[in-house]
Amino acid sequence: MTSLSLEGKSILLVISGGIAAYKALDLVRLLKKAGAELRCILTAGGAQFITPLAVSALSGTETYTDLWSLKDETEMGHIRLSREADLIVVAPASANMMAKMAHGLADDLATTTILASDKPVMIAPAMNPIMWQNPATQDNLAILEQRGFLRIGPDRGEMACGEHGEGRMAEPAEIFGAIAATLLREQPLRGRKALVTSGPTYEPLDPVRFIGNRSSGKQGHAIACALRDAGAEVTLVSGPVALPDPPGMNVIHVETAIAMLNACQDSLPADIAVCAAAVSDWSATAIMKQKIKKRQNAMPPALSLKENPDILAMLARPSPRRPSLVIGFAAETDDLIAKAQEKLARKGCDFLLANQVGPTENGDEKVFGQDENHVYLVARDGHQDWGHAPKDMIARKLCREIAKRMEENHDQQRQRA
Ligand code: PMT
Repeated sequence: MTSLSLEGKSILLVISGGIAAYKALDLVRLLKKAGAELRCILTAGGAQFITPLAVSALSGTETYTDLWSLKDETEMGHIRLSREADLIVVAPASANMMAKMAHGLADDLATTTILASDKPVMIAPAMNPIMWQNPATQDNLAILEQRGFLRIGPDRGEMACGEHGEGRMAEPAEIFGAIAATLLREQPLRGRKALVTSGPTYEPLDPVRFIGNRSSGKQGHAIACALRDAGAEVTLVSGPVALPDPPGMNVIHVETAIAMLNACQDSLPADIAVCAAAVSDWSATAIMKQKIKKRQNAMPPALSLKENPDILAMLARPSPRRPSLVIGFAAETDDLIAKAQEKLARKGCDFLLANQVGPTENGDEKVFGQDENHVYLVARDGHQDWGHAPKDMIARKLCREIAKRMEENHDQQRQRA
């Protein structure tokens, strides 16, 4: 396991309170042996179980403990501690630590450093099984995971308190493996710029009403995250969604199709464009300044609509600013593949992911707002069924497809040169 080298990788290890803090010493040893550049913060709770001296003896560097230490702040400072790390690891992550991170508390050096950071954070939770199962902890976990925190464990087994269940911190070797996998992960899209559209557009009719749709942004945001994880520099142009902004990318919020088009044009040049947004095909020819009134015994008002610009077609049209790879979606309620083929030809993108939307037999929506999707890759030379899968898995598969096609394009260019 420790034959893996982490030379040149900088890790900030936060050791919070809990009996598992003693296992963090073994993690320090493994990281040092692998050549990682390691800095450690020991919280006041952690220091009840192990000493700063023990951590420093193994890490070979100063162990930081105090937010208000003038010496630490002048030598290193909490901002530098967070900014210089490739990865922040919280092991053990106590229930209290998870709660503070989920709610943005910054009342000690560890939480302030994490709040001041835009770096990926991995947590290794460790606590009593009842604390772990407590809805408060599970809600905090959901918040952290939604914000992109990585997690390893906890494991099931006998606890130091004698109880049995889920809550033991993952073994140091396992945590080391997860750290190495994260830091040494292949980033095939490093150096590439990617533009992703996501969510619905809202087209106003009057000051209170709009034409919209059921897109939640889950699929588009998952694609933006997968592209970021594959090393791309991502701009996410998002319609109105309830999702938090994914960390590590530039997020532009828009409401209408016109605003989405402008944001996309302003974000060019890009190497890759993925249009996952459900852009309204129409908007009102005139937006009423006052709320449209319901009049007694009168016919309902007729809506006069005009066609919106097609963002995907604009990005895909031949031009020096065309991204090398332009990918669209096709959302159809019927005749999925044939209609997607027709859309592919009309919009001029490189390929589409087609998904069948609308209600299932029991009336639930199949795709919009759901965590899973079933997509087909539709290209000019045929189509592939990618099956039913969580949206983040589809996003990762799409990234692999993008990386493969970018590599093929690159090879063709080399051969032509
Ligand atoms: O957001 P979720 O709840 O996770 O749901 C995911 C999704 C169903 C929204 C997503 O998987 C999806 O299918 N997105 C495209 C929805 C859509 O508008 O499809 P369409 O077939 O109407 O449009 C075809 C393509 O043209 C799409 O890439 C769309 O982004 C693009 N388009 C459409 C109209 C327009 N004016 N401009 C566009 O760019």
